[in-house]
Amino acid sequence: MISNSNTFLCLGYICSLALCVSCYGYKPPFRGYQYNKPALLPPLQTNSSATAPGMQSDYIEDLIEEQKQQILSNVLGGAAASASTSPEEADLSPFDSDAKAFRVNRCASCSCGVPNANRIVGGTQVRSNKYPWIAQMIRGSFLFCGGTLINDRYVLTAAHCVHDMDMSAVSVRLLQLDRSSTHTGITRAVSFAHAHAGYDPVSLVHDIALLHLDQPVPLVQFMRPVCLPSSRLQQFDYQKAIVAGWGLSYEGGSTSSVLQETIVPIITNAQCRATSYKSMIVDTMLCAGYVQTGGQDACQGDSGGPLIVPDRIFRLAGVVSFGYGCAKPNAPGVYTRVSRYLNWIAANTRDSCYCNK
Ligand code: ARG
Repeated sequence: MISNSNTFLCLGYICSLALCVSCYGYKPPFRGYQYNKPALLPPLQTNSSATAPGMQSDYIEDLIEEQKQQILSNVLGGAAASASTSPEEADLSPFDSDAKAFRVNRCASCSCGVPNANRIVGGTQVRSNKYPWIAQMIRGSFLFCGGTLINDRYVLTAAHCVHDMDMSAVSVRLLQLDRSSTHTGITRAVSFAHAHAGYDPVSLVHDIALLHLDQPVPLVQFMRPVCLPSSRLQQFDYQKAIVAGWGLSYEGGSTSSVLQETIVPIITNAQCRATSYKSMIVDTMLCAGYVQTGGQDACQGDSGGPLIVPDRIFRLAGVVSFGYGCAKPNAPGVYTRVSRYLNWIAANTRDSCYCNK
């Protein structure tokens, strides 16, 4: 995580995207990475009344929003209409279509996306855990990626964080801002990882994966998951976002012991295609950063972590995916655009409880 302009120039190409891709020892892509996934997920809970607890409360809102956008785009023939016809979209999953709203079990009584206040109790500083949904992915004692808790069972991360990885050696740690601390926070083993079937380590499209935790995380007290985007059309363009992680604090530097955060503006995909990335940026990606000056960005080790946007509560706009070096001008951070995966997420997290508020 690079939170000021004190950055190094990249040493040759070692800090480049090539490192991001090659250091994980990728093999040629194949379709569908599933690790000990149970054959059958329990069916979605259904309640007799549409508004009963357990069903998504903003389902109607989402539907209305989507219909509104659809009508608008039909009338105007604008960007929203062309965005939905990209090949990536068709590839998302059989479950993903414009017609479906995000339907999940809202069976946990909690409010997603609400940060914790930093509090002092009896003269001792209580760990603030401002963003309690931020997860560390650890192998042995090595923190190699971030992730985000989205319900009581699943952490969302990047596909490149689980690709070719023996998940039995990986654990997920929550509520621990200091990774060198001996307090474990909430630690869970990963029973399986489900990377998007369309993930391609060369083009880095669909760089998204779900980690199924061996035990649910009780969503009580300070523990809350993040909120997801309100619909697949929520854009976040020009909004100020927060990216957080334990990654390198400058290119070629070392990782941080305590969770770092920095503010980065989200730019449009058109603006992002005008940077060094050009046509590499597809509709299912999102870019954030200071194109002119650089200086603030995620970096190696932050992958899989959250890019969140305050929208009354915090919503997960992106998953840290890649970048040319870190915090350089003309090379903003690239993220997986979470709003484009809502149906994929819903279809693959049926055995979990989302917050009811
Ligand atoms: N791929 C990198 C990782 O595995 C994340 C790089 C993010 N880079 C950036 N400049 N935003 O940690």
